[in-house]
Amino acid sequence: MQTVSLGRPAEALFEPAHVQPMDADAGWRQRIELLRANPLATLPDRLFRETYHSGPFMGRQVHYVSGPEEVRSILHENFMSWGKSPLIMRMLKPILGDAVFVAHGDSWKRQRKTVQPTFLKRRLDRFVPLMVEAAELAIAQLDHDGKPIEIHALLNEVTFFIIERALFSTSSGLDRGALREAFEILLAEIGNVRFSDLIPAPQWVPRLMAPRVRRALGVFRRAAEDQINRRRAVADPCTDLLGLLLSVRDEDTGEGLSDTDIRDTLITFVAAGHETTAVALTWAFYLVANDPACQAGVRAEAETVFGAGAPDADQAGQLHLARQVVEEALRLYPPAPMLGRRALEDTQIAGRKVRKGDMVLLAFYALHRHPEFWDHPDRFDPDRWNPDRRPNNRYLSMAFGGGPRACVGAQFAMMETSIILSMVLSRLTVMPTHGKVEPVMQVTLRPKGGMPLRFERHAA
Ligand code: HEM
Repeated sequence: MQTVSLGRPAEALFEPAHVQPMDADAGWRQRIELLRANPLATLPDRLFRETYHSGPFMGRQVHYVSGPEEVRSILHENFMSWGKSPLIMRMLKPILGDAVFVAHGDSWKRQRKTVQPTFLKRRLDRFVPLMVEAAELAIAQLDHDGKPIEIHALLNEVTFFIIERALFSTSSGLDRGALREAFEILLAEIGNVRFSDLIPAPQWVPRLMAPRVRRALGVFRRAAEDQINRRRAVADPCTDLLGLLLSVRDEDTGEGLSDTDIRDTLITFVAAGHETTAVALTWAFYLVANDPACQAGVRAEAETVFGAGAPDADQAGQLHLARQVVEEALRLYPPAPMLGRRALEDTQIAGRKVRKGDMVLLAFYALHRHPEFWDHPDRFDPDRWNPDRRPNNRYLSMAFGGGPRACVGAQFAMMETSIILSMVLSRLTVMPTHGKVEPVMQVTLRPKGGMPLRFERHAA
């Protein structure tokens, strides 16, 4: 890979907004309120200096980790000893069924092995024109004569456009409007943490679903089943993600996915891959808006690689600086800033004993800003991702998770974010507004109240 460096001293680098930690003497009421409003603010401050902390919380022992060895121990070495957090299971299972994101044990293994090849690089190249089309849409909407425009919602539309068309490239028999409406309701439900969700309850206690959510789930499931039936009825299942899911086989057993697996995987891809990508792009634009030199670098790279047009699949792979900017945005603002797991058996975290039922919080936000592992950790420095400087330890950069359950869509996401960032900056200059920027964790790490920025066509 080519080395791209902007070569600036640390003092010249932009220091973007960070999460304000909770007061050390905050009472229980305040803590519980914060858990809902911004759980990241409740992370013990010491996680930014040490890499492990353990203490009781709401009747359970909770282990907090912010070091690569601890993370590796949980997500790689002992990954089968840990299940996804009860909160995540409670919120996601009613909608995602037993799809790969929530499945465990043999069901997860079988699905993961079958789904993984869908995301091979050579298969993803076919989605580049779709990503380019989405970037053109974004440019048309962002081009606002320098007036402030809220980009988080707008980028959500753009990444939804990509994932929905990547799943269903043909619209025969598909009511895209109804599907969009159903998805909106379902995604809002997934993102809605209720007080009752925070109370430790046995997993068999059902999470009540409002009638409109049940209806939306029905709309989506019927549409997906109809598309699956239509594709199965013809010889060519198409080369979109649905077509790939219909044709992939477990290389050992030769078995494919069941229709229910496929249906639930489709919604999983939307749930896992659309808001995460939109929020990554939102932070990337905020960072470059405050760093004109970096912006000029990305623009110059775009001009060299694809000129006044748009990248093809080969050129998309040459957008090195744009990718470095996205990687740095993912370090500073990991869309999933912490993950929870529950010990399914007695186990250990890098040699420390853990009992069955204990919880662990993998605090990627703290790991990504830990001074032991990063120079000037709170500064925006895309150069740290060039091949000469990027960290060797894979467990330092955790935006896509790690170990056997790492994100299957990481390459897809890197491709779409680097194409959109590069194409937008090749046509528009982005500038900050002067409002307060506050990162809050509301399922993903979002800017509180949105992210207004100003975009202007730059002089040719
Ligand atoms: C910037 C964008 C993205 C980020 C930051 C992200 C982050 C993550 C993370 C942290 C995990 C691990 C969760 C855990 O271990 O509990 C994960 C898993 C997953 N992601 Fe992504 N993701 C992104 C985009 C996508 C896209 C575009 C797709 C699909 C099209 C996708 C599909 C999945 C799936 C299916 C899993 C579950 C894998 C398994 O459990 O085996 N993600 N993602």
